[in-house]
Amino acid sequence: MAAIEIRDLTLAYGDLKVLDRLNLDVREGEFVVLLGPSGCGKSTLLDCIAGLADVTEGQVHIGGRNVTWEEPSARGIGMVFQSYALYPQMTVRGNMAFGLRNAGMAKSEIAERIDRAAMTLQIEPLLDRKPAALSGGQRQRVAIGRALVRDVDVFLFDEPLSNLDAKLRAELRVEIKRLHERLGNTMIYVTHDQIEALTLADRIALLRGGIVQQYADPRTIYMKPANLFVAGFIGSPAMSMLEVVTAGGGTLRLGETVIDMEGYDGSVPAEAGRRLILGVRPEHVAIGPETGSDRSARVDLDEPMGSDSLLWLTLEGQTLSARADPDHGLTEGDQVSVRLDPARASLFDAETEIRL
Ligand SMILES: Nc1ncnc2c1ncn2[C@@H]1O[C@H](COP(=O)(O)OP(=O)(O)OP(=O)(O)O)[C@@H](O)[C@H]1O
Ligand SMILES: [Mg+2]
Repeated sequence: MAAIEIRDLTLAYGDLKVLDRLNLDVREGEFVVLLGPSGCGKSTLLDCIAGLADVTEGQVHIGGRNVTWEEPSARGIGMVFQSYALYPQMTVRGNMAFGLRNAGMAKSEIAERIDRAAMTLQIEPLLDRKPAALSGGQRQRVAIGRALVRDVDVFLFDEPLSNLDAKLRAELRVEIKRLHERLGNTMIYVTHDQIEALTLADRIALLRGGIVQQYADPRTIYMKPANLFVAGFIGSPAMSMLEVVTAGGGTLRLGETVIDMEGYDGSVPAEAGRRLILGVRPEHVAIGPETGSDRSARVDLDEPMGSDSLLWLTLEGQTLSARADPDHGLTEGDQVSVRLDPARASLFDAETEIRL
């Protein structure tokens, strides 16, 4: 086990800064997920930690040691690449054994480790095949297996489940979580799948354009997104964003409707007339029969999703979605009352996009 510290890390290709003075600390034994859209620098950051990319500026520390200029093999890491990188001329067993043989491990120990990893990953019948005779998902599992058999302090996983079908993906997600609990290694795991991030991570670092937007535990990222980008990226179905104006005394105005923000955990600007964005997750919108006194919204569309229904509503000319029981009995055009829970909402400055 080892802690990892990234200090002011910059990686540039010419004028293009793929990573821009990035700082990140990963505790010993922690499971950190790097999350973000395609091209935001996730693989590049992982490559810098592994020693596969030349950093432009800054430092990488593993286990208290500055390894910025050390060879990948000296860093005590096991890596699963986004592109698998299996040796084509070797069998699955050969691929998994390669690093261990080079390290001089006893044959019986190697066999035992491969068997255990193969069982976990459900690749036992494939051990004597070569990579060309495997599907993409099978290759991906072999690549995971090759990392798992090694004795390392740190595992770096780059989208290890991206080519698996939904069922296997969900199964392996659980296996990876169990594995981490059993081994206790420090783990950095790249994905663009927010469900994977929310289910696996102790902490999520959400990246955009090579800059960390928020680094926190999944619950905090979900409930208190640091800015509009994080709020929009996390959560499916997505958070509704309503344009509001402060009305003084801790209240907001949405068209003609006044919303009392009593109970909001951030700060509501005292001055009136400031433009804000009110973010509300669909499961935090309560709908009920129209009463005449409550805020009234119109039902535009019903999206049944099996366990529940997503209702698209219009409130004061703006779109709002609400999670409802699938047997809600409402149809398009119905009027309903809407209640938002201020304690579980988020307020963003419309200019800076930062959460207040
Ligand atoms: N050798 C290179 N020269 C120039 N630009 C590069 C080079 N390698 C990567 N990039 C750029 O760096 C940025 C980050 O790439 P990276 O592979 O880290 O993204 P990523 O977050 O892993 O994306 P994905 O989710 O698609 O794998 C991209 O805009 C990419 O085009
Ligand atoms: Mg990548």
